[in-house]
Amino acid sequence: MEKYTDLLEQIEEIEEDSSDKLRDLKSLDDCEQVRVEYLGRNGKIPNLFQRLGELPDEYRAEAGKKINQLKSSLDERINEKKRELEEEKQKNQLEEESLDVTLPGRRRGVGKLHILTQVQNELVEIFKRMGFSRATGPEVETDYYNFEALNIPELHPARDEWDSLYLDDGVLLRTHTSPVQIRVMEDHRPPVKIICPGKCFRRDTPDATHYPVFFQVELLWIDRELSFANLKYVIKTFVEEFFGPDFEMRFRADYFPFTEPSAEVDIRPPDGDEWLEIMGSGMVDPNVLEAVDYDPEKYQGFALGLGVDRMAMLKYGIDDIRLFYRNDLRFLRQF
Ligand code: PHE
Repeated sequence: MEKYTDLLEQIEEIEEDSSDKLRDLKSLDDCEQVRVEYLGRNGKIPNLFQRLGELPDEYRAEAGKKINQLKSSLDERINEKKRELEEEKQKNQLEEESLDVTLPGRRRGVGKLHILTQVQNELVEIFKRMGFSRATGPEVETDYYNFEALNIPELHPARDEWDSLYLDDGVLLRTHTSPVQIRVMEDHRPPVKIICPGKCFRRDTPDATHYPVFFQVELLWIDRELSFANLKYVIKTFVEEFFGPDFEMRFRADYFPFTEPSAEVDIRPPDGDEWLEIMGSGMVDPNVLEAVDYDPEKYQGFALGLGVDRMAMLKYGIDDIRLFYRNDLRFLRQF
């Protein structure tokens, strides 16, 4: 009898204890711990069952029933708690991961081409419409392509004008786009009719009109029976298309080792009295043609080189070349 009441007391105690524990539970892991503590193989409830044997026969059935009740009610409550915690967990997760679709989007700036790239493309397009195709060459060159093949031998004084930045092994940063003339002629038999835009480098101290990096567009046309008149026509067409129909142009005698005769081209705006230099040009020197195995008796042609930076400055009234390379967005956004 005593043992029976003892057992009943324990049942009650377990009942209360476990209820308290379940109430304060915060996580599914804790839940599992409670299950092990009470219902596990060595848990408190299985231990109660073991003690049934100590009871007198007449109490055993009754006590067994009570322990069973405790067991199934606890089992149920644990499961209930588990469901609650799972639901809560899911709810929190949904809240965390939810998107506020009413939030305004983040604006991403749309970029645009640099003013020099815009002008370069415009120049190339004008010549393409006249039938020239685009060619390109490397920005690092050998002495041969940058000078020798262009009729500028090692001790020629004209080298001063194109003083380069030298890398190791006789490699240099090209000082003009003219080496592309040689590369293209080496790879193609005439006729050749190309336009080559690209970056050039010179050992210049930056000021309002000089920068150690700048852009050029080179033009070369070789065929039978091309004359200075054809050169003039091409330049005139270009000036009209790029600057407008009212600009005047003139040739001014000049010297380049790779052209003979050579001329600078100047333009004058309709309302201006100043002539502005825009490019160098001339008939390709026979020595250059011979360097690429073209027969100068059969083929002639002309070349010209214009500074993209200079074109952009003239067209947009920009007075300092350094602005192009400073990449200040307040400047760049204007174009
Ligand atoms: N390469 C010359 C320069 O950089 C320009 C030029 C090109 C002149 C083609 C004549 C013919 O100044």
